[in-house]
Amino acid sequence: MKVAVFSTKSYDRQFLDAANAALGAGAAHELAYLEVRLSAQTAVLARDAGAVCAFVNDELGAATLATLAGQGVKLVALRSAGFNNVDLAAARREDIAVARVPAYSPEAVAEHTVAMILALNRHIHRAYNRVRDGNFALDGLLGFDLKGRTVGVVGTGRIGATLARIMLGFGCRVLAHDPYPDATLQALGVAYVDMPQLLADSDIVTLHCPLTPETHHLIDAPAVALMRHGAMLINTSRGAIVDTRAVIGGLKSGRIGRLGLDVYEEEGDLFFEDLSGQVLHDDVFARLLTFPNVLITAHQAFFTAEALTAIAETTIANISTFAATGRAAHEVPPPAPG
Ligand code: NAI
Repeated sequence: MKVAVFSTKSYDRQFLDAANAALGAGAAHELAYLEVRLSAQTAVLARDAGAVCAFVNDELGAATLATLAGQGVKLVALRSAGFNNVDLAAARREDIAVARVPAYSPEAVAEHTVAMILALNRHIHRAYNRVRDGNFALDGLLGFDLKGRTVGVVGTGRIGATLARIMLGFGCRVLAHDPYPDATLQALGVAYVDMPQLLADSDIVTLHCPLTPETHHLIDAPAVALMRHGAMLINTSRGAIVDTRAVIGGLKSGRIGRLGLDVYEEEGDLFFEDLSGQVLHDDVFARLLTFPNVLITAHQAFFTAEALTAIAETTIANISTFAATGRAAHEVPPPAPG
């Protein structure tokens, strides 16, 4: 099958080529690598391809999907778990199947979350710069023991559950909020509570639910107001779960004492690119960068060798099963008609 791979970076090519080569010469797919993001404007570049392979900041709205369908594209193979960037109803109308990588390495994202918690707590990002500058003073670097602290996990699917187990290992009390409580976690001592109680009782709030209409701006100004004074907020899920302006308000008031973001509402214009020689036009993002207690990584939580290997293998498997049977192995179900 010919596949137009959008938003390609060198590491995508490396891992996809390896997974494709493992199929053997007769079964391997024809992967056409494109650096541009997929959008309504660039969809024409999928010409002659039966499938497109897309990533988190590609835009698969109705216009993009209509153009893809007009060129004979039958499959969108996402190399991500999240699928909030795809208009599933439009895909159904255009008779395009959407496949994703449901589980590749929950540890990759959960461990990056822990890295952010530890770095923010002990101010590692500031200490690194201080020591390189010959400043060996400790003022301003005071942290707290994680043991005995309360961590609120929003969304206890694969990643949230993994994170909850790690935090239990630190000796934390773990609260959780999820419409579908995990009995295994409950047996380990995780207590499911409603969102207001989680926000009010947690020293660290960490987000691991998908971005849906219900979770859009889940952390807004009223939610920030419910948080403990000085609490830590971590978002490694999807940017728009957090209302960034509300969180900036929380940082200014001190309600939020530490903020770790691996995702950002408007990251599509920034992340995955080297913009170091350019002027930053996003004033909200620029404001975030001024806070000493904010740590931002550019959507790298997934970025481990194990995760990239699994993403590439599942993506190639999705394409292979679709080519062989007309159904991909991990299709996202279309929304119920209505
Ligand atoms: P999952 O589907 O296994 O778990 C999501 C959980 O969120 C489910 O248990 C679901 O019931 C729960 N949930 C849904 N709505 C909720 C709500 N309103 N409040 C609380 N919980 C709710 O997904 P997984 O694999 O754990 O991934 C979670 C999210 O992490 C993905 O949707 C994706 O957006 C993000 N992600 C980020 C990555 C990164 O590199 N930063 C990499 C991979 C995923």
